[in-house]
Amino acid sequence: MRLFITFEGVEGAGKTTQVEMLHSFLVDMRVSVLKTREPGGTALGDRLRPVLLEPSEVPFAPLSEMFLYMAARAQLVKEVIVPALNHHTVVISDRYVDSTIAYQGYARGIDISLIQRLNKTATNGCMPHLTVLLDIDPEIGLQRISSKPLRFIGNGKDRLESESLDFHRQVRKGYLLLAEKNKDRFFVVNGRRPKEEIHKLIRQELVRRYPERFAKGA
Ligand code: TYD
Repeated sequence: MRLFITFEGVEGAGKTTQVEMLHSFLVDMRVSVLKTREPGGTALGDRLRPVLLEPSEVPFAPLSEMFLYMAARAQLVKEVIVPALNHHTVVISDRYVDSTIAYQGYARGIDISLIQRLNKTATNGCMPHLTVLLDIDPEIGLQRISSKPLRFIGNGKDRLESESLDFHRQVRKGYLLLAEKNKDRFFVVNGRRPKEEIHKLIRQELVRRYPERFAKGA
């Protein structure tokens, strides 16, 4: 069975924690599983990641930013995601196509249908079967990350995290619209719930969707 799961959300929504928890759960169930993230996950993607995320005085045109994310994605799909799915390995990705629609589309203002076309080209049509959206007010999410150890010089935030609260509100709005338009693919969870509870809800959703595969461990 081919199964591709993506996690999405604003900064500080808790994606990375949930990706880890689901990955460990599947490993314990002896499911062949691979976790990856965007931007990154390949040698090229890992070189593009700091270009995209380090705080920088260098101006980024919205289209340049979008193409860099797309470049990282095209490499990840070809090198990692498709080969793994072809081997019936479950793939979990921390961010994917919807991040570009939410951030570069809804928040930066690039035409959504253009991003959708480019996403299709970059991924060769490889879409997730399930997308977990951890929904949280970005004000709370940004507060959460500000209490983490500083990862970058300056205010400690990366280039996107340093955007205005209004920008992040647009991102959240974009995600919620995407979830509304793609009800079958999205599973929306309130990111303010305790992490164990969120993990349990995600497991229950997997059992609901794929009972023959996941019922025994849930
Ligand atoms: P993030 O996933 O939040 O990683 P970390 O947990 O290490 O901070 O960082 C990725 C950033 O890139 C995040 O701010 C969202 C942004 N992004 C886009 O703007 N567009 C995209 O297409 C992708 C994949 C990410």
